[in-house]
Amino acid sequence: MKGLTNKVAVVTGGNSGIGYATAKVLKEQGADVIITGRRKEAVEAAGQALGVTAMVSDQGKVADIEVLAENIKQQYSKIDILFINAGILGGAAIEDAAEEVFDSVMNVNFKGAYFTLSRFIPLLNEGAAVVFLSSNTAHMNRPNSSIYSSSKSALNAIMRTAAMELAPRKIRVNAVSPGPIETPILAKQGLSDQQLKDLQALIISEVPLHHMGKPEDVGKMVAHLCSPEANFITGAEFVMDGGMSVA
Ligand SMILES: NC(=O)c1ccc[n+]([C@@H]2O[C@H](COP(=O)([O-])OP(=O)(O)OC[C@H]3O[C@@H](n4cnc5c(N)ncnc54)[C@H](OP(=O)(O)O)[C@@H]3O)[C@@H](O)[C@H]2O)c1
Repeated sequence: MKGLTNKVAVVTGGNSGIGYATAKVLKEQGADVIITGRRKEAVEAAGQALGVTAMVSDQGKVADIEVLAENIKQQYSKIDILFINAGILGGAAIEDAAEEVFDSVMNVNFKGAYFTLSRFIPLLNEGAAVVFLSSNTAHMNRPNSSIYSSSKSALNAIMRTAAMELAPRKIRVNAVSPGPIETPILAKQGLSDQQLKDLQALIISEVPLHHMGKPEDVGKMVAHLCSPEANFITGAEFVMDGGMSVA
């Protein structure tokens, strides 16, 4: 029998990159997977390609999160795996920071992740697993990264408190913090092909293992943290960045 058979899993931001790859791994391991996304066409196309349920929900809007939780409650009653993955990039030097960029990054990466956990807590079965998608930038101090890295540091703080609050129900809460992973997230920043190539080359030069990670590397780690093999792991953050943050 596959390790996650009979488990219901929700993956936010599942139409692309790490969320998509993780939904695929969870499904391969037997879970009944629901992916979410903010763009109807994209999330439905991904749902069809993966053979999983797709639901439109903007993690930047608490009202959307509440509707999502209610819909999933109606259709599935309870869930076993919650992967809070949706996130966006955005940054500037602190001196030049724009309020709109600050608000949009915090709304999705921090506030949206927080309220996703909050509103899904009543739906979590005893023994469920929650994983937040953080980032190695939470441990790095690169110029222009203050907004994004603060949003991810905040996630790590929520994760640890949630692990304490939910332990009485045997619900485990952890975070995975990748370094550079090959996903469309950088291309969404409006860079030219050449700028994107130059940026990727620069990033790779800063990774001791000298390559970017694959989305499925993260997916396998998330699936492991949601499996019975990880039943003594909670309140922990797993950095997977080819050594970048310790270089
Ligand atoms: N790739 C990396 O190097 C890296 C490293 C560390 C951490 N991360 C984190 O990993 C997570 C996944 O990123 P990724 O690299 O896989 O990027 P991605 O390919 O852009 O995937 C992000 C997913 O989140 C969705 N999303 C964005 N804003 C949303 C919102 N308001 N509501 C619902 N869904 C939303 C995106 O939808 P759209 O397609 O509509 O944009 C997409 O499905 C993010 O939290 C990111 O911060 C990525």
